[in-house]
Amino acid sequence: MQLPNLKKAKERTNKEVKYEETPLITNNKFLGKKYFLRTYGCQMNEHDSEQIASILEHLGMEPCEKLEEADVIVLNTCAIRENAHDKVFGYLGRIKHLKKDRPDVIVCIGGCMSQEEGVANELLHRHPYVNIVFGTHNIHELGKMILEADQNKQDIEVSSEEGNVFEHVNYKRASHITAWVNIIYGCDKFCTYCIVPYTRGKERSRKLEEIVSEVEKLAAEGYQEVTLLGQNVNAYGHDLKENVEFSDLLEAVAQTKIPRIRFVTSHPWNFTDKMIDIIAKYPNVMPYIHLPLQSGSDKILKLMGRRYTKEEYIALFKKMKERIPNVAISTDIIVGFPGETEEDFLETLEVVKTCEFDGAYTFLFSPREGTPAAKMKDETPLEEKEERLYRLNDLVNFYSKQNNDKYLHKTVPVLLLGVSEKDPNKLYGYTDTMKLVNVIAPSNKIGKIIDVYITDTKSFSLDGEMIKEETP
Ligand code: SAH
Ligand code: SF4
Ligand code: F3S
Repeated sequence: MQLPNLKKAKERTNKEVKYEETPLITNNKFLGKKYFLRTYGCQMNEHDSEQIASILEHLGMEPCEKLEEADVIVLNTCAIRENAHDKVFGYLGRIKHLKKDRPDVIVCIGGCMSQEEGVANELLHRHPYVNIVFGTHNIHELGKMILEADQNKQDIEVSSEEGNVFEHVNYKRASHITAWVNIIYGCDKFCTYCIVPYTRGKERSRKLEEIVSEVEKLAAEGYQEVTLLGQNVNAYGHDLKENVEFSDLLEAVAQTKIPRIRFVTSHPWNFTDKMIDIIAKYPNVMPYIHLPLQSGSDKILKLMGRRYTKEEYIALFKKMKERIPNVAISTDIIVGFPGETEEDFLETLEVVKTCEFDGAYTFLFSPREGTPAAKMKDETPLEEKEERLYRLNDLVNFYSKQNNDKYLHKTVPVLLLGVSEKDPNKLYGYTDTMKLVNVIAPSNKIGKIIDVYITDTKSFSLDGEMIKEETP
């Protein structure tokens, strides 16, 4: 039993990162049994779930769609906002019920919520039917924990150590067309509202050659796109002995045969000119940048610990727009941070008007236990915050539609990913600039990059039809 510890999770020492081989248990004890895996949160969690699925299948299990059919249930959780917690605890109610009839079902909770001291204790004391709690640093131990699971006992293994880097991880990738590739784990930015530096540990870059070899392998297997993942990709390499940074990595990946490269998330602080140049230079680096603004008020940015001013953000934004042809830029914005006045909020709206973002994810501030912002004085009533969020969303949607309208009657390259959920007669895919397009095209084009003529535009998607054979 190892419980998470907030104080330890906060620590950043000079302890050297170890690069380890990922242990993988192959065993047929669970042959023919079924697992149910549900993922909350960001792309990093989606990718972690691909590792979890691989671990479960190496124990002989197969996936199932219904909770009730499962022999093993795994929830890979997210802690970013309170509503993420609520969803998981809500779902646990269903599982508790299920366990009454089927006590032999093994229930496992992983992900960022398990890394929280308060949550782990709550699971320990109030949810005894949960068998296994594993952390983001302990995913590789899940197989062993399941093999040793005892239906009458709870096993919690959550390390709050700064973390090592595991290489040669086995994934059961969700797609055969696009793939996630971790480049840097953890985060050292400690934005005052954010739980991630505590749940994901310190910044740890993978070695450049390991990343490039993973991408080469994916390209050889026929993958069309990779997304390089990090909480803050432009921090890549700063912790390595080798003198490399994100632009070097991006260039090395661009020189592989992979047709499309994306990366997420970029921090506006320390986004160098060299990075912009590399994005502009290589046609297989997609002209799309997710650049979280968080707030347009310098006072609030400072309270958030974001390390840039409104002016610096706008200057960087403009430089990207000037130097990267056709670039699309989206953002994240938090509304109602402690101390945010109407004037501060109006400044955020002004930045949105200046930047005319392609898209924005907007959030109400949610206090996270253990973070500095959770202790800051917050006097704005919730109704006022919600009203601000509505106003912001109206503006954001206006620009989203305006940007999409620019695509009308244009021909754009689209990587087709599958059959459209809304209309089974259409396929869906993404432009190089990350616009969702519903396309009339034959299904044998799934997995191909084709030219699409845009016939209609909406706020969050485009409609189009295939005009010719795929681009080389
Ligand atoms: N690493 C990324 C963001 C990860 S979290 C980055 O630095 O940009 C994704 C988004 O969730 C953040 O950009 C922020 O807008 C939002 N977020 C994080 N913590 C939050 C909190 N406590 N309340 C509300 N939104 C939050
Ligand atoms: Fe959170 Fe800030 Fe790190 Fe992003 S950069 S994960 S917002 S602490
Ligand atoms: Fe959530 Fe953890 Fe990602 S808190 S957003 S799953 S890093």
